[in-house]
Amino acid sequence: MKRVYEPVQEGSYIKMIDMVKGEGGQLQVNNISGYLPGRIVFFLVNSHLAPRPILLTRHGESLHNVRGRVGGDTVLSEDGELYSKKLANFIEKRLKNEKTATIWTSTLQRTILTATPIVGFPKIQWRALDEINSGVCDGMTYEEIKKIMPEEYESRKKDKLRYRYPRGESYLDVIQRLEPVIIELERQRAPVVVISHQAVLRALYSYFADRPLREVPDMEMPLHTIIEIQMGVTGVEEKRYKLMD
Ligand code: F6P
Repeated sequence: MKRVYEPVQEGSYIKMIDMVKGEGGQLQVNNISGYLPGRIVFFLVNSHLAPRPILLTRHGESLHNVRGRVGGDTVLSEDGELYSKKLANFIEKRLKNEKTATIWTSTLQRTILTATPIVGFPKIQWRALDEINSGVCDGMTYEEIKKIMPEEYESRKKDKLRYRYPRGESYLDVIQRLEPVIIELERQRAPVVVISHQAVLRALYSYFADRPLREVPDMEMPLHTIIEIQMGVTGVEEKRYKLMD
């Protein structure tokens, strides 16, 4: 069978040699130019197949969650605080044999407060992990949006993926701003815990679980649940832990 292969030696190519072994692999890049091929090389240089977990979770329940309001920057409810403690316990046990790990949050206080009881690991705040910007609808309930801005409500219902809140974002905007986060996650060799928000985690999870774009905006992403994604040579495996009833 090998006889039908020919080594690529000329023209534009990217050769990936023994990448599965991790440390010993080699990437050969020849005559690559242009924006998109450049991005592909950048991505390949930064990604690897060493096994490591990525833990995704939404923040603990916030006061806006309790009131059914979108966006905002409220603190945690009592249940949300309880979750933050359970999460810290879980992470302490889950990562006790790991030499290093990092905790990533958004810049919004509900994720920072959820990470507060976790000790012993460095924490990084990413603006790119902030919740979808709901623009003029920020702080409103879905019922209020429907009543006060019925056209906006209907447009979002019709095409939630592309709909952009006035002075805010669409799911496609969120997906685009997550690119540096994804590259950085691909690059990491140690475990990462990502504490973020519903829309952002729908997008991140869909990337790792290889789910189609159209499913992103309506994917189930419950509160108080950890999704563990195990990255490695054989692909991506997933486990879920529900920490509260
Ligand atoms: O309701 C919680 C929340 O994180 C809001 O802040 C955000 O606008 C919303 O979820 C995103 O979900 P959906 O796109 O389904 O409205």
